[in-house]
Amino acid sequence: MSFLRYPADVLTGIPEERIQFLKQYEDWFTIEAPALRKITDHFEQELGKGLTEEGGNIPMNVTWITDFPTGCEQARVLTMDMGGTNLRVCHVKLEPNRRDFEHTQRKFKLPGEVKTGTGEQLWEFVADRLKSFIDDHQIQNSISEKVPVAFTFSFPVHQTGIKSGVLQRWTKDFNVAGVEGHDVVPQLTAAFERKQVPARIEALINDTTGTLLASRYFDPHIQVGSIFSTGCNAAYMEKCSNIPKMRDEGFAENAKVIINTEYGAFDNDRKVLPLTSFDRDIDRKSARPGTQIYEKMVAGLYIGEMLRLVLLALHEEGRLFCDQDISPLKREHCIEAAFLSAAETDTSEDLKGLRKEFEDYFALSPTLDDLKICRYLIGLIGIRAARLYACGIAAVCKKTDSFRCHVGVDGAVFKKYCGFKARASQALREIFDWPEDEFDLICLNPSESGSAVGAALAAAMSMGCEAGKRSSKLACIV
Ligand code: BGC
Repeated sequence: MSFLRYPADVLTGIPEERIQFLKQYEDWFTIEAPALRKITDHFEQELGKGLTEEGGNIPMNVTWITDFPTGCEQARVLTMDMGGTNLRVCHVKLEPNRRDFEHTQRKFKLPGEVKTGTGEQLWEFVADRLKSFIDDHQIQNSISEKVPVAFTFSFPVHQTGIKSGVLQRWTKDFNVAGVEGHDVVPQLTAAFERKQVPARIEALINDTTGTLLASRYFDPHIQVGSIFSTGCNAAYMEKCSNIPKMRDEGFAENAKVIINTEYGAFDNDRKVLPLTSFDRDIDRKSARPGTQIYEKMVAGLYIGEMLRLVLLALHEEGRLFCDQDISPLKREHCIEAAFLSAAETDTSEDLKGLRKEFEDYFALSPTLDDLKICRYLIGLIGIRAARLYACGIAAVCKKTDSFRCHVGVDGAVFKKYCGFKARASQALREIFDWPEDEFDLICLNPSESGSAVGAALAAAMSMGCEAGKRSSKLACIV
C-alpha cells in the first residue's frame, strides 16, 4: 500500500488488512501537483471572469480603495470587526511615519441566535456592544457629536463607494433574515439611532482588504491579503484597465483598485474541484447549499465537520469506535478546527493527547488503533485544506504576475493550525515548480497587526488623515 502524503508511520503496528480501506480515503483526499496546477489555472481564469460584466462564480468585488497606505496616516479611529465568530471593537491610534499603532480592544462572542435571527437583532447587538465600548472608554469626538467608525464586515458586499455595501449573500452559515440584498450601512445606522449610539460609519471594508492594507503598511513586498479562518478569501490590487465591469466608472487609465475577490465561491459550478461525497454532504446541510463550494472544502468552519462525517461513516461500516456510544459525535459541527490541530501536535506513541480529546469532548474511549487511524485521517483532511488553499493564492499571484512576493495572511486557523503554513508553502512550490534549492518565492507571512489596523487605515485614507494635512474628523476623536 502506498501512503503518499502523510507519514504512514502513524499507522505502524496495525495489520495491513485492517487499514486497507484507508487507501480509498487517501485517493479521495490527496491532491497531487498536476491536479493543483489544473485547479490553479482554472481558478485564474475564473478570477478574470469575475471582473467582466457577465461575471462568473467569483464576485471580484470592487472596494473603491485605490491606494496602499503611505505610512503617514495619522488618526484615532474606532473600528468594529464582525467576522465568523466574534465581534471585535477597537480604538486604534495611527502614528505618522513610524508605522506604529496602539490599540485597545474588546471581543464579544457572536451568539448562535444572533447569527440566525433577524437583521434588527443583529444590528442592535452590534450597536449595544459599540455603545458600551464608547461609554467604558469615554470616547468622544471634539468636532461632531458622532464618532466615526470603520466597519470590517467579513461577507461579500457589492459596493458603489467605501461607505456603503449591499450584502450579496451570507456565508459561514450565518442566516440573518432581511439583510441579503440590502445595504448594511443604513441598517446599522438605524440601529445606532434606536439605541442612541453616537457613531457613524465612515468606511465599510472586508477583512481581506483590511489584512492587505495592514500588512502592506509594514511590508512593501505584500501583494495579497488573505484570511484563513472560519472562512477563506483574498484581496489584491488590480489595474482598473483589467476590470471591464468598471469601464464606465471614470477611473484614470493607470488607476488601480483593491479587489475583494470573495473566492470562497470558486467552482460553485463544480467544474474542477475534486469533491468527495463528504463535501457534497457538508454543502447540502449548510445554510446556503450550492454556494462557497471552495470555502467549504478548505476553511476552518468545515474541516472539523469533514472529520466528523468521515468518523461517522467509518463507525457505521464497523471500522472505528466499535461497540462505543458515538451519539455525542452526531451533533453537527461538534468538532472544531482546533481539535484537528491539537491532534496533529500529539507526537506521543500512545496518542494520549488525542485520546484525552476524545474522552473529554465526546465521552469516547478509542482503542490505540482507532486513534492512529483518526490521526491519519486528520492529516489527510488538514493537508488537503492547505493544498487547496494554496491554489487560490497561486491563482491571484499568477493573475497579477506576482511570482516573487509576500502574502499577508490573518486568521486564527492559519496562525494556530500546526503545519498549515508549511503544507501550503509546499503546495505553492509544487504549483510553481520552484527549484529545490530555492527559498519560497511567494511567502505566506502571518499578518501581525490585526484587522483593526487595516480598517483604521482604510478610514484614515478615505478621509485624508495624513500628517501635515488638516483632517476633518477622524484625527479628532479623543
Ligand atoms: C466571506 C469573506 C471573508 C472570509 C473570511 C468568507 O465567508 O465571504 O467576505 O473574507 O469568509 O472571513
